[in-house]
Amino acid sequence: MRTGTEQEILLKAIDAFRNKLIVVSPDYRILAWRCHRNIPSDDDQVGQLCYRVLHARSEPCGHCAVKTVLETRRPAWSPRDEELLSGETVPCHYAYPVFSGDEIEAVVSMEMEPPARSQIEEKLQRSNAFLRNLITSAVDGVMAADKKGKVIIYNDTAEQIFGYGVKEALETLDIRAIYPDGLEREVMRQLRSEAHGGRGKLRSFLVDVLHRDGTRIPINLNAAIVYEGDQEVATIGFFHDMRETLKMNKVLEKVQLQLMQSEKMASLGKLAAGVAHQLNNPLGGVTLYTRLVLEDYELPPGAREDLGRVLRDTERCRETVKELLEFTRQTRHLMQPHDLNQAISRTLFLLKNQPLFQNITIETQLDGSLPPVHSDIQQINHLFMNLVLNAAQAMGGCGRLAIQTSRAPGAADRVHIEISDSGPGIAADVLPHIFEPFFTTKPEGEGTGLGLSLVYGIVENHGGQIKATSTPGEGATFVIQLPITPKADDGERNSGNDASCSSANLSGR
Ligand SMILES: Nc1ncnc2c1ncn2[C@@H]1O[C@H](COP(=O)(O)OP(=O)(O)O)[C@@H](O)[C@H]1O
Ligand SMILES: [Mg+2]
Repeated sequence: MRTGTEQEILLKAIDAFRNKLIVVSPDYRILAWRCHRNIPSDDDQVGQLCYRVLHARSEPCGHCAVKTVLETRRPAWSPRDEELLSGETVPCHYAYPVFSGDEIEAVVSMEMEPPARSQIEEKLQRSNAFLRNLITSAVDGVMAADKKGKVIIYNDTAEQIFGYGVKEALETLDIRAIYPDGLEREVMRQLRSEAHGGRGKLRSFLVDVLHRDGTRIPINLNAAIVYEGDQEVATIGFFHDMRETLKMNKVLEKVQLQLMQSEKMASLGKLAAGVAHQLNNPLGGVTLYTRLVLEDYELPPGAREDLGRVLRDTERCRETVKELLEFTRQTRHLMQPHDLNQAISRTLFLLKNQPLFQNITIETQLDGSLPPVHSDIQQINHLFMNLVLNAAQAMGGCGRLAIQTSRAPGAADRVHIEISDSGPGIAADVLPHIFEPFFTTKPEGEGTGLGLSLVYGIVENHGGQIKATSTPGEGATFVIQLPITPKADDGERNSGNDASCSSANLSGR
């Protein structure tokens, strides 16, 4: 038995200990305490459940040192290793049992600094933290799961790919939920097979995973089974998001296709020019000899009219050949004054007999006093061809196409061209993108998405402006303004809710 003085000194010694100290019974009821900020008043809490009073929980805390003491009957420290792994920090407590005979009568828990760790432990902690950092900052999504499928490692990139927060994933996510249609079984089957880099390994396996919102995301997966001895204890996966790469591949494929297409067009153009050239001479011959027959011979009744028809048709053929030659003329950036009304008529002449134009009413209002525009006629031909074709395609071959030219209102040194159609128009979310290369709303194989970007470039080359406006459901209008002669600096810009391109500097051309 201690003396009264000894007991008094001991109580004073406890009081002098400035850290939290609490004594609880084996059923977690507070027996005594001191210096505890979470406890509001002295007496009330004695006899209450410590986890309820201190942490407002309905059961003992998972990391509690008292719990460990009760389980092991030995002194214990919190936090334990699991808390350190998850990155959660909890105050450190030292707890030890008070025995009465063989039974634990109470557990004392005090908040205090853990004793200095051994060097090895220190190193281990540091390398743990380093590994955790490595995983967190990896550019691929990293996810590991234990045998039951519970996620135990989950990094920031995984959060971006799958959409679950780190805490949520660690607490509630089952790895099976990230694979669609039971694909996790297939992944596990491949992992256990020898097919992809040996048993327990999966190299560059293409698979879809599910984002939290249900979106399927293409992934290049590298994964491994983690063994302890012969036992499978976990799986770890490195998820490389393939969306960007696939998008890039698509663009490359399109470019390749377009290159092939433009090569094809170039050789077709040459072919057409060659054929046109070949036809020119015999057509000249037909015209000449028909005229001679008409002049030199007595003709039976009706023959004169027939020969007149031959002459008219031949003339039409020659006209077509002339337009075709003009259209395919190989000129490179040859800037000369050209009549744009004539260029428009030529485009329409070539197109109007095509099947696509059979049910399209073409209305032209071409200003006869339009001054010639300093331009590269081949580019101008392409420009009109693209705009007129787009309009006809949009109308599905049936509707009204109106083309109008005039002096630009308020700018005598510019011409104004308007091409309108009665098609479905351009949706507001599509309009800002139509001049972008490869942008198309047409099905694969029908549109290259390059027509309008070509048009944009041509207008830019000529120091002009183009804008598209549309009331969806009522058609689309493309307005082009071109300077009659190129200017060194043209600072005017379009504004508003339409898709437009601004003027380009022509100096140096
Ligand atoms: N007159 C028009 N009416 C409606 N939409 C149009 C019209 N002209 C162009 N567009 C839209 O702009 C997109 C891009 O046109 P373009 O660059 O010529 O490529 P493509 O014709 O190959 O699709 C088209 O897919 C279409 O959605
Ligand atoms: Mg087009």
